[in-house]
Amino acid sequence: MLESLPRLPDDPILGLAAAARADGNPDKVDLTVGIYMDESGLCPVFDAVRQAQRALVDEEATKAYMPPVGDPAFNTGMRQLVFGTDSAALAAGRVSSIQTPGGCGALRIGAEVINAAVPGARVWVSDPTWPVHIPLLGSVGLQFENYRYYEAADHSVDFDAMVDDLKQARRGDVVLLHGCCHNPCGADLSLEQWGVIADMAEEQGFLPFIDIAYQGLGDGLERDAAGLRLLAARLPEMIVAASCSKNMGLYRERTGITLFLCADANSADALQSQAAVAARRVYSMPPAHGALIAGRILSDGGLRENWERELGGMCQRINGLRGELRRKLEAEAGRDFGFIEREKGMFSFLGLSAGQARALRSEHSVYMLDSSRINVAGVNAGNIDYLARAVGAVLRA
Ligand SMILES: Cc1ncc(COP(=O)(O)O)c(C=O)c1O
Repeated sequence: MLESLPRLPDDPILGLAAAARADGNPDKVDLTVGIYMDESGLCPVFDAVRQAQRALVDEEATKAYMPPVGDPAFNTGMRQLVFGTDSAALAAGRVSSIQTPGGCGALRIGAEVINAAVPGARVWVSDPTWPVHIPLLGSVGLQFENYRYYEAADHSVDFDAMVDDLKQARRGDVVLLHGCCHNPCGADLSLEQWGVIADMAEEQGFLPFIDIAYQGLGDGLERDAAGLRLLAARLPEMIVAASCSKNMGLYRERTGITLFLCADANSADALQSQAAVAARRVYSMPPAHGALIAGRILSDGGLRENWERELGGMCQRINGLRGELRRKLEAEAGRDFGFIEREKGMFSFLGLSAGQARALRSEHSVYMLDSSRINVAGVNAGNIDYLARAVGAVLRA
């Protein structure tokens, strides 16, 4: 029976990363996969994570299943991290949540609950969006519409076009928004623009579904959540999928959470039960290790301070790299790269054609997606000059 199944192509991003690993050029630069890398090109373990992990290993008394909704300290800490400690919705008991296997699991559980409410609901996704959104939500049965978002010609959000497209979103529809650090384009909404989206959601009745996988890596933990919190202060309902992969470096521990902002506490409780039943049919109970670590960090004053300091350092480093890369590229290529400094988080499109991105790979061992999306955190003092020269050469060719 199974022999009829063909071999499927590799995931394009993971396939390119594998090609970069296999490349013997000592000058090679890998800007493909979305993980934070430090100056030495390594994806580091946070010091706070090491400390929390040590304590956890010493104290852990059982490997019995986690509760279906996950670790209580993790849920409480993440609700506050995402919505803010002063959130009126939190105080009113209007928020419930479920710990999930990573941000992907959080998106999937959000999609399951949406599909339970409105089977085959239309989800409006930004053009472009993170490609994995489509199979994650689509395999549940949700349908897609695109809204225009990124204007490649001037490297910015085409907000008028976005608003124009979203005028068609109505009650029963979902609008998927990147909470901060848009993947793949790095162009985020201003607070004023978030306000316009809130007006539209109020008037038209669509449900915002916010994917926030990079909180703390754009402008800091609080400012990165400001748009999402603005919506939460005004709207009766919203779903959020959050991840600790990037901002705690817990990638392989699969640590995420789906949060439900509801009209009242009863409804929040009902949504949590829906999410738990959805999780039961997909994977049953969530994994323990990452969430127990994150829960400790979020609830322990010393660990939290340590984590916030390290995360703040990463954020500053990314923003510093953005400035430096802009200057070096402008010097090498003689054109404006100011957008790199305006954009946020780990990703930007360099604005190259697919042919130019391929030439960078074949002629210079510089790996980026064909869309010219780069992981800014893959740049460091040791490769930035080589990278800028290679991009300059390809642009002049
Ligand atoms: C936009 C976006 N959403 C969600 C995720 C989920 O990440 P994870 O499942 O590793 O927590 C990612 C990871 O790259 C992402 O880029």
